[in-house]
Amino acid sequence: MPEAAYDEIADWYETEFTAGQRYGAAHADPLGLDALIRDLLGAGSGPCLEIGCGTGVHAGRVRDLGWTPVGVDLSGGMLRHARGRLPVARADAARLPVRDASVSAVLSVMVHTDMPDYSAVVREAARVLRPGGALTHIGVHPCFCGAFADRRDAEAVVIRPGYRESHWSRESWTDQGVRDKVGASHLPLPALLGAFTAAGLVLDRFAEGGGPTPVVFGLRAVRPADGAVARP
Ligand SMILES: C[S@@+](CC[C@H](N)C(=O)[O-])C[C@H]1O[C@@H](n2cnc3c(N)ncnc32)[C@H](O)[C@@H]1O
Repeated sequence: MPEAAYDEIADWYETEFTAGQRYGAAHADPLGLDALIRDLLGAGSGPCLEIGCGTGVHAGRVRDLGWTPVGVDLSGGMLRHARGRLPVARADAARLPVRDASVSAVLSVMVHTDMPDYSAVVREAARVLRPGGALTHIGVHPCFCGAFADRRDAEAVVIRPGYRESHWSRESWTDQGVRDKVGASHLPLPALLGAFTAAGLVLDRFAEGGGPTPVVFGLRAVRPADGAVARP
């Protein structure tokens, strides 16, 4: 299994990052994750498999939409916090301990930059989705976030050269985030969208969150009712 970089920062993530965004907390939801999950995942029933569920911060949102949240994550440290929030298993999202075509919904929130081969993760999600089921992807916006983006002044985001190349970096405009601690990879928008179509999924809806320049980009990708998906 790949190294679980988040073990080192799990307690920090829970107290400094997750707690402020916890569903139902009085705090704001600056990235608009609540609205994005409602819009893109939508209401449903049965298991919703969250890949990279981390501390389980979205479990309440998923449950409120009618789904039964279940999560997988690489990091035992993150899962320690998640356990009271949803049923979880420690697993690599690129090798899910889940049968083919067995779930109607897969959710991926703020994780693709933590998964260097996100295309393989998307293919694996497509494998476990039932025909007609959907993968909801919500992640940092590939155009406006990354080592090439300086967001110090939210009103005047500076985009430097570097967007076009896929890369991994710990460079960040802030020392209050995740990138400077565990690093993050970057996929330009065409490569990100291509990961879903190459897996045999059909792009259905798109959304953005945060502002004034969006911080988050999301989409819903559906496994065709009669279509084969690419094998991982
Ligand atoms: C930025 S956190 C996001 C956690 C949660 N989804 C949220 O929105 O707060 C990224 C998570 O992805 C997990 N992760 C990274 N690579 C993974 C992999 N290959 N398989 C499963 N989880 C992974 C990390 O352990 C971490 O918990």
